[in-house]
Amino acid sequence: MDIETFLTRTADQVESALAGILESWTDAPEVLVDATGYSLFAGGKRLRPALVLEAARVVGGEKAVADAIPAACALEMIHTYSLIHDDLPSMDNDDLRRGKPTLHKAYDEATAILVGDALLTMAFDVAATTNNVDIVREIAQAAGASGMVGGQLIDLASEGKKLSLNELKHLHRSKTGALIVASLRCGAILSGADESQLASLTEYGRQIGLAFQIADDILDVTGDESKIGKPIGSDEGNAKSTYPSILGLKEAQIMSIEVAHDAMDILDVFGREADTLRHLALYIVERNR
Ligand code: IPE
Ligand code: IPE
Ligand code: MG
Ligand code: MG
Ligand code: MG
Repeated sequence: MDIETFLTRTADQVESALAGILESWTDAPEVLVDATGYSLFAGGKRLRPALVLEAARVVGGEKAVADAIPAACALEMIHTYSLIHDDLPSMDNDDLRRGKPTLHKAYDEATAILVGDALLTMAFDVAATTNNVDIVREIAQAAGASGMVGGQLIDLASEGKKLSLNELKHLHRSKTGALIVASLRCGAILSGADESQLASLTEYGRQIGLAFQIADDILDVTGDESKIGKPIGSDEGNAKSTYPSILGLKEAQIMSIEVAHDAMDILDVFGREADTLRHLALYIVERNR
């Protein structure tokens, strides 16, 4: 199956589950539900859910996929909240996301903050339906102070400064890599992965997580706004340290491909069964959206 078909299939599965979750918020204010749907159903790639479901399948076979859907939804809810807050005037101050005006533009800033809060909180309600405390902790630790939130703080505190390559790698691994690693680990844990399977998927996740953010930095320079659905040049406008700004565009492109190949090599323990994950590593650095 080609990677676009695979991503469309997982997006369909996860979006119908997410729609059911939103419908279950029966006592929530209508405007909160509408505003959440505005961001949640705006056509994200659903990469993190795809990683949850594919890790579950690689370890546990096709029959394991259905049980991984709540974890996939929880991770997409947290990711979507992180984008809503990332775009706020006090953070990256961007006006376009997933091809539409950002939530604070379409509604207002308070609504955008509260939708983020609701998505973050309710993600744990969904994660708890797995009845697996390890899943809840994986997601909390990846999203929290030592993971995505910590990374976002360093990202913002570093504006106008020139980070070293090692500092930038650490930043990318926390702000973006942590949720990507957690996605793979949750799928694997739910399928009963053994130590060596979990270690391989974790290391694969660390590499593609880094590759993913390098590619995101590159797309901020070379991307087509109508395809990536967010503004070009946001990083330069905010004086961020990025791979292209530190290494130059060409070197950044070379590095992203090298990291993707490192990721592919780690999957040997799974044989051909991991081919989709291998193709995903390449997709992550070759994508145009
Ligand atoms: C964008 O993530 C933010 C980063 C962590 C780089 P995605 O590129 O996965 O965004 P969507 O979900 O497809 O909109
Ligand atoms: C943000 O990185 C990563 C998050 C945790 C949201 P960016 O600020 O580069 O993401 P985009 O480019 O706005 O999607
Ligand atoms: Mg940002
Ligand atoms: Mg941003
Ligand atoms: Mg970016």
